[in-house]
Amino acid sequence: MSASIDIDVALGERRYPIRIGAGLLDDGAWRATLRGRHALVVTDDRVAPLYLARVRDALGTLAHDAVVLPAGESAKTLDNAARVLDALARLGASRDAAVVALGGGVVGDLAGFAAATWMRGIDFVQLPTTLLAMVDSSVGGKTGVNLAAGKNLVGAFHQPRAVFIDTATLATLPQREYAAGLAEVVKYGAIGDAAFFAWLEANADALNARDEDALAEAIAFSCRCKAGVVARDEREEGERALLNFGHTFGHALEAEQGYGALLHGEAVAIGMVLAASLSSRLGRAPAEDTERLLHLLSRFGLPVEPPRAEPDALLARMRLDKKNVSGRLRLILWRGIGNAEIVPDVDDAAVRGVLAAP
Ligand SMILES: NC(=O)c1ccc[n+]([C@@H]2O[C@H](COP(=O)([O-])OP(=O)(O)OC[C@H]3O[C@@H](n4cnc5c(N)ncnc54)[C@H](O)[C@@H]3O)[C@@H](O)[C@H]2O)c1
Repeated sequence: MSASIDIDVALGERRYPIRIGAGLLDDGAWRATLRGRHALVVTDDRVAPLYLARVRDALGTLAHDAVVLPAGESAKTLDNAARVLDALARLGASRDAAVVALGGGVVGDLAGFAAATWMRGIDFVQLPTTLLAMVDSSVGGKTGVNLAAGKNLVGAFHQPRAVFIDTATLATLPQREYAAGLAEVVKYGAIGDAAFFAWLEANADALNARDEDALAEAIAFSCRCKAGVVARDEREEGERALLNFGHTFGHALEAEQGYGALLHGEAVAIGMVLAASLSSRLGRAPAEDTERLLHLLSRFGLPVEPPRAEPDALLARMRLDKKNVSGRLRLILWRGIGNAEIVPDVDDAAVRGVLAAP
């Protein structure tokens, strides 16, 4: 096993570790963060055949069970959260029990939500296995499930007790899912660090080849960035909104295309290019920076042009975004690479213009 990287997430009095390294699933360190007599592993039916046995081995003689959900976003439901809660009841889990989330963001969000609500909140440990979950969803404590009325409508803030990122699990991740995770990595450079963005440009080939060192560095930078933002603004009252760069456009595209047609990271890639182009049209940012963003995302094999969609339909969806205030469109735009900003009152005509002809 190569050397691991440790990052501390500090939220006032509360803190938790993120550890990044190859082979961590077999390492006793994550097991040592469990405090009680019971553990419930939550995973999905694609990840279970690959990694569940190793996680169960690491749990050893601790009383534990596993819930295996169907893979995919459609499993992120209240019914499945109830399945996890029922399994905790069957296990006889008390307040010192822990939920262990083994999988991507779907498993992490749902397992975290169940942990937040069982006996008003028990520990949960994140063992993320997609790049998106490693760099984004496993850190920061947003948990939840979807309703028919919309994504993530039910949820709770509940920070994990620890996050253990075994980078070796990425070897089995399908290429499209891997690239979608890279979109979120690019986002961290785009919103707050021009030097990291330049590092990604220099290391794009290594990342495409899933080089272990380059990946560990990209994941560590992303986790540090997310941990820093969450530490300063846990409940998204200010700066945390910057993490949504590209997301208002992206969510509208995802919904308009029908969920599943575009992966979330793919929609975010297109959304970031739209946000960057809009910024330069509004005279807020240099057009060359949009070109650099577009080029980097393309090198990762990500889509950069919106699929055909009616601009007014997209605009109507963007109006439903949780970030809007008093019906005015509030978007995350940028001044250029490494410098995102919240713009509270963006002109509809300019947004329609960029949607009609990016
Ligand atoms: N909580 C947050 O802050 C936050 C942030 C971003 C996204 N999210 C949520 O994350 C979810 C998306 O997460 P995701 O992109 O990880 O999707 P996912 O959990 O659906 O995983 C994608 C696919 O990859 C498979 N998979 C996972 N790990 C694998 C591995 N190592 N090898 C082979 N296959 C593997 C899964 O079975 C699934 O089919 C969404 O529900 C989104 O709302 C949450």
